[in-house]
Amino acid sequence: MIPYKHEPFTDFTVEENKQAFLEALKQVEGYLGQDYPLIIGGERIMTEEKLVSTNPANKEEVIGSVSKASKDLAEKAMKVADETFNTWKKVKPEFRADVLFKAAAIIRRRKHEFSALLTKEAGKPWNEADADTAEAIDFLEFYARKMLELKNGIPVESRPGEFNRFDYIPLGVGVIISPWNFAFAIMAGTTVAALVTGNTVLLKPASTTPVVAYKFIEVLEEAGMPTGVVNYIPGSGAEVGDYLVDHPRTRFVSFTGSREVGTRIYERAAKVNEGQIWLKRVIAEMGGKDTIVVDNEADLELAAQSIVKSAFGFSGQKCSACSRAIIHEDVYDQVVERVGVLTKELTYGDPTELSNFTGPVIDQASFDKVMSYIEIGKTEGRLIAGGTGDSSKGFFVAPTVIADLDPKARVMQEEIFGPVVGLSKAKSFTEAIEFANNTDYGLTGAVITNNRHHIEQAREDFHVGNLYFNRNCTGAIVGYQPFGGFNMSGTDSKAGGPDYLQLHMQGKTTSETL
Ligand code: NAD
Ligand code: ALA
Repeated sequence: MIPYKHEPFTDFTVEENKQAFLEALKQVEGYLGQDYPLIIGGERIMTEEKLVSTNPANKEEVIGSVSKASKDLAEKAMKVADETFNTWKKVKPEFRADVLFKAAAIIRRRKHEFSALLTKEAGKPWNEADADTAEAIDFLEFYARKMLELKNGIPVESRPGEFNRFDYIPLGVGVIISPWNFAFAIMAGTTVAALVTGNTVLLKPASTTPVVAYKFIEVLEEAGMPTGVVNYIPGSGAEVGDYLVDHPRTRFVSFTGSREVGTRIYERAAKVNEGQIWLKRVIAEMGGKDTIVVDNEADLELAAQSIVKSAFGFSGQKCSACSRAIIHEDVYDQVVERVGVLTKELTYGDPTELSNFTGPVIDQASFDKVMSYIEIGKTEGRLIAGGTGDSSKGFFVAPTVIADLDPKARVMQEEIFGPVVGLSKAKSFTEAIEFANNTDYGLTGAVITNNRHHIEQAREDFHVGNLYFNRNCTGAIVGYQPFGGFNMSGTDSKAGGPDYLQLHMQGKTTSETL
């Protein structure tokens, strides 16, 4: 087996790659506006009620109209998944892994098409869309290999005259609830982690990005996934989501999204409902309020570049985005000034144009939320770049920097999930780490310093799941930087990590007397 290596990113300065992406955009434009059914047990089901997915850069452009699951259809899907579990759990891990390898190969051949679809459906600029597709491929390749490593369990001791084994077996029906911001990678990664471990799945993708999820299910089918193993049921989070989370046959929920919804799911899943014979497992990956700390002994250009890149890539709509920076007072003015200059140079607009660094925010609700936080930020601190928005055609917000904030200010504490970064000053490196830790979250962080002692201090004291030194705080790679956070950022799981698959299985001990 070829050792795992992450999927390379596309270099769009190469003319051939640029042309291939433009072709892919045309290909996607050729199928915009179609109707998509639910998929339950392989059956295509069209419903009257639709989720209409539109392009956030151009509200008039419909990406697709997707059938919406009702509670009845969710129940039908649950029955199918429950029934199919009896056969899927007995399918050899090698078969399950092969489906993932084949799906990865199919996606690799259609890489630019998937990325172009993300550009249209999620408003991702080319490089961000390319990274999202690459990450989806990585999850398939990585989890398939991990399953093969785990297929014979983990060795345990045996005494003379006995033979002991420790094997992993699947859990049952998993409800996968995915977000729109990594509409391909996280949706696909959480789905296949559940499948390759022998569970069956009810996939409820985010309402704003259901078309890419439909296309992915088609790929799984083409790759040989038997019918009924994965069921595609887009619908209202509140209606279908609550129903499935509460369902007594749900064995586990794998959720990625906001803190608000994640804590709701965690609480509801804890209740044992009538007919339920297990305690549900919940994997919840939630929000972040991620900080870059800048020391006084640091490369200040690197610091400013890292803040700007981490804050405004994909318009700050990453759980890993830098939404706050804490800067040592000795270098504060220099870094603030440089961050302002770099931010003003950023281009934003239609993400189908390669020249735009970033595109829109996802929808009107997000636009309104971000703009209201900018107003709050103006009263809490000093606006040094951006501050404007225009939602007439798409949902565009200028990359915005607010300086001189108290680290406890609202824009320094609450997840805005848009292109807004707040800057605060600290008297010392130790105080900077204290400020960095003073939120409810603990997802990513970065430290820019040339001081080896400070690197070690941060390694111990900066309480985040993903800590980076002298670089940006976004862009974790599957299998290289396992991803997931502490505190209100989630249940401490690590997507793309060595122990992630085990969260979807239970260990069974057998002991035979010889
Ligand atoms: P969201 O919580 O609004 O939605 C996530 C999913 O939950 C969607 O599919 C939605 O339809 C569904 N949902 C809504 N209400 C529900 C309910 N009552 N029951 C069940 N499901 C329900 O989040 P979003 O806006 O799609 O994504 C952005 C959020 O996700 C941000 O907070 C971001 O930080 C977080 N996120 C975290 C990670 C991570 O790995 N920690 C990764 C990506 C995004
Ligand atoms: N994996 C994504 C990142 O690290 C969320 O930015």
